Amino acid sequence: MRVAFVGKGGSGKTTLSALFARYTAVRGGPVVAIDADINQHLGMALGVEEGALPRPMGAHLTEIKEYLRGDNPRVSSAAAMVKTTPPGRGSRLLDLKEPADPVHARYAVATPDGPRLMVTGPFAEDDLGVACYHSKVGAVELYLNHLVDGAGEYVVVDMTAGADSFASGLFTRFDLTFLVAEPTRQGVGVYRQYRDYAADFGVPVAVVGNKVHGPRDVEFLREHVGQDLLVCVEHSAAVRAMEQGRPFRLEDLEPANAEALGGLLTHLNAQEKDWARFGRQAVQFHLKNAEAWANRATGEDLAAQIDPDFVFGPTRVSLPR
Ligand SMILES: Nc1ncnc2c1ncn2[C@@H]1O[C@H](COP(=O)(O)OP(=O)(O)OP(=O)(O)O)[C@@H](O)[C@H]1O
Ligand SMILES: [Mg+2]
Repeated sequence: MRVAFVGKGGSGKTTLSALFARYTAVRGGPVVAIDADINQHLGMALGVEEGALPRPMGAHLTEIKEYLRGDNPRVSSAAAMVKTTPPGRGSRLLDLKEPADPVHARYAVATPDGPRLMVTGPFAEDDLGVACYHSKVGAVELYLNHLVDGAGEYVVVDMTAGADSFASGLFTRFDLTFLVAEPTRQGVGVYRQYRDYAADFGVPVAVVGNKVHGPRDVEFLREHVGQDLLVCVEHSAAVRAMEQGRPFRLEDLEPANAEALGGLLTHLNAQEKDWARFGRQAVQFHLKNAEAWANRATGEDLAAQIDPDFVFGPTRVSLPR
């Protein structure tokens, strides 16, 4: 199951991504946490020392593409593989249960509570959006497109602030998106925009209230986002202590906040995997990108990369009777 944390700058995406990844990993995992934000802070929030961060995927795109394309005859070279190039027959797929593949082996590191961390590497505002051929976040899109994940396996992505995540097809690659909102007018301001956009694509969104200080804050959030409010995380002394440089353990988290993380996990586990939507939108966004820039950038007709007979998701092998 894949989940993205989105929301306004400073709302708590990184903090909640890290807490949720830790919480889920100690309950069994496997969990891969991916830092896909402009400023890369997820490693720190997961307790990784600066010197121990993984190699940034965004700086090794060619190598990653070379591996993923495998011997898919529809993808002529790594250079012709763009962030939306969907897998086809012959592509190499990724499996969280068997992370010995070169992508996980080279670009993920273990973190103290168990999640494995992958990072895009820092990028600039201009890297965002459909028009950018060198988008670092594209590494995450490729990774998720080639991942076959099931129940009890998790990818948690800390996304970039604001509605930028909707500029590419990346937001359709998740089973659930958590929109982190502080109980302020600005905090709930992006909610409607997210909700409408996500609804157009059948992408499930749930709101996570954060830095909540009591019933009036909860009431405010409920008034603005209604039924979409899933849980509220209170302002946390344990998180603040961690920000002040003190060691943090998951057990230090206030019981109400741990319960809120449990609510997120339960909701994620309750989502139905929709591989049909996943495959349909992979094709849809690939065609959109091909036309908008990628055909021109690669000098190929990238619609030809789509394998009409490829089945997304776990393939059932029918045994002879
Ligand atoms: N529940 C909480 N209790 C206490 N402090 C919190 C809580 N959630 C977030 N914070 C603090 O708020 C600040 C912003 O949080 P965080 O960095 O997670 O936000 P962000 O949405 O990832 O920001 P950015 O958009 O800059 O990436 C941090 O100092 C963090 O420690
Ligand atoms: Mg952040």
